Amino acid sequence: MLLVVAAFIVAFVLLLYMISPLISPKPLKLNGAHVVVTGGSSGIGKSIAMECYRQGAFITLVARDESKLVQAKKEVEKCAINDKQVVLCISVDVSKDYGQVESVIKQCQEKLGPVDMLVNCAGTSFSGKFEEVEVERFRSLMEVNYLGSVYPTRAVITTMKERRMGRIMFVSSQAGQIGLFGYTAYSPSKFALRGLAESLQMEMKPYNIYVTIAYPPDTDTPGLAEENRTKPLETRLISETSGVTQPEQVAKTVVKDAVQGNFNSSVGPDGYMLSALTCGMSPVTSITEGLQQIELSHILYDYNIIIDCPKTVCSCLTLVIVNSD
Ligand SMILES: NC(=O)c1ccc[n+]([C@@H]2O[C@H](COP(=O)([O-])OP(=O)(O)OC[C@H]3O[C@@H](n4cnc5c(N)ncnc54)[C@H](OP(=O)(O)O)[C@@H]3O)[C@@H](O)[C@H]2O)c1
Repeated sequence: MLLVVAAFIVAFVLLLYMISPLISPKPLKLNGAHVVVTGGSSGIGKSIAMECYRQGAFITLVARDESKLVQAKKEVEKCAINDKQVVLCISVDVSKDYGQVESVIKQCQEKLGPVDMLVNCAGTSFSGKFEEVEVERFRSLMEVNYLGSVYPTRAVITTMKERRMGRIMFVSSQAGQIGLFGYTAYSPSKFALRGLAESLQMEMKPYNIYVTIAYPPDTDTPGLAEENRTKPLETRLISETSGVTQPEQVAKTVVKDAVQGNFNSSVGPDGYMLSALTCGMSPVTSITEGLQQIELSHILYDYNIIIDCPKTVCSCLTLVIVNSD
């Protein structure tokens, strides 16, 4: 009897794996598509813009500093695959005035057509001990990292719904999956994106619009270099347990996930395991992904206890040693 039940379960799982591709979203064709990248003048955003351009997209770069935008435009243009492609630059603060953001999105849609994919990558980080972070910083991080993603999304969503197609990417962080020492101001602004992404995906699915939330690890960008200037020792020690990833690698992974309509996008084996551990009730875009999460969550929970606890203990011991010097 047990054997029959086991055979039935195996057959059921195999069947689910086989029909999975049939109910997954149809990949978005980037060739000829209009992609808007906020924070496109530097770091991860610039690499995402270059990756999309290499696949034939038309790009709008959004950021505040005009000279950085002009420089980034030149770099993106070098990745062209045909002479029809265009890079447009728009200077605006995405976090301050919704009316302004709406108006620049309208402008870029008039020039390059409706937005097929919006990448919300404008953001900033700051680390410091809770009581040492200026109170103002909690507000500004929430404004840039959270509202700076809400506003552009709100500005493109009506047209996407009318066209019954589109992709929205939110660039969160591994610090948006777990809270870490020194990130009391940054982490909540990235956790907030997950709540937004999960709710929005539920509303948008009937319109064939897919939301992706990316959780990059520490990535070698001007933003990370700036953050490192104020990083507390404890935060640095925790960060050092994993390496630094190149923005090109992050861009390749997250663009591929967004094109395929995957909800979660993580980079590297550590990122994959962290996403499986913290997936909670977040949407899955394929049966395969759902099954993998069920299968992996128990294994990874044990992994977390066996591997990560000693790592944390090591970090704590290091701190004790450093402090006792
Ligand atoms: N680097 C990492 O280790 C890492 C890891 C996980 C997640 N992330 C996230 O990835 C995103 C990009 O990070 P990055 O390291 O590539 O940063 P970066 O090199 O500092 O680039 C940030 C970009 O955002 C733009 N920006 C910042 N505030 C803006 C605003 N209010 N309005 C419009 N544009 C704004 C910047 O241009 P202007 O200053 O000219 O406006 C720049 O183009 C951020 O959301 C960050 O939190 C980074």
